[in-house]
Amino acid sequence: MERDISEIPGTVPTHIGFIMDGNGRWATAKGLPRTAGHLAGLKAARRVIAESARLGIRYVTLYAFSTENWKRSEEEVSYLMTMIATKLHGELSFYREHGIKILVRGDVSALPEKAVRTIETTIRETASNQTLTCVLAINYGGQDEIARAVNRWQEKTKGEPRSITPADIAANLDTPQVPPPDIIVRSAGEQRLSNFMLWDSAYAEFAFYDTLWPDWGSLQVQTVCADFAKRTRKFGGVIA
Ligand code: IPE
Ligand code: IPE
Ligand code: MG
Repeated sequence: MERDISEIPGTVPTHIGFIMDGNGRWATAKGLPRTAGHLAGLKAARRVIAESARLGIRYVTLYAFSTENWKRSEEEVSYLMTMIATKLHGELSFYREHGIKILVRGDVSALPEKAVRTIETTIRETASNQTLTCVLAINYGGQDEIARAVNRWQEKTKGEPRSITPADIAANLDTPQVPPPDIIVRSAGEQRLSNFMLWDSAYAEFAFYDTLWPDWGSLQVQTVCADFAKRTRKFGGVIA
């Protein structure tokens, strides 16, 4: 079922951050291995990206693998790494069809070499697409990103006797060209950030939905937009 775009009241968010949670529970409920949930989650991500592009959302960030997800079984971690190394680049015609530019946020240097190469190629080959920028948060942790931003800043300003400012940190995050998220969304009922976008969530709206990530599609993205349109953002000021 597809809602007409004009039926969604208000403006769509410029940037949505998605915490894609519930792949494991989806698979377990169906008597399948957790890895089957990740494959279904990838298909959901495709539907969500396509619908976001259709609605005129300019940026989505998808939380794909956290700095804490290395704690999972070797089988699950290696499945996810293989998925990144093999599936990401295989979607090139999908990116072209929908005008999707891929960027990555997170400490990519710690990933297996094949995954790093796939990521670099995909970023390069989608660089001129202009409808929607899709930022994949891989080996991403908000705390880790802030620490790396401070280190980067120190490296650049060596010897300069001045203190770091919030603007310095923002300018040294992994994707400084991407505006902060207007809304951060989490699937599967959990109500926490799990180390996602700690710096730029400062004035984000939050929305939590029970639907497990592999069941997400256009309807859920439309619901996020409709819910966002009902929020009043004040950024510390006063609405007249
Ligand atoms: C989210 O789904 C995907 C990743 C963290 C990679 P989960 O794998 O966390 O699913 P649940 O929370 O166990 O159901
Ligand atoms: C957050 O989900 C990370 C991703 C969606 C990639 P988790 O499932 O890892 O988070 P916790 O452990 O429930 O907080
Ligand atoms: Mg989870």
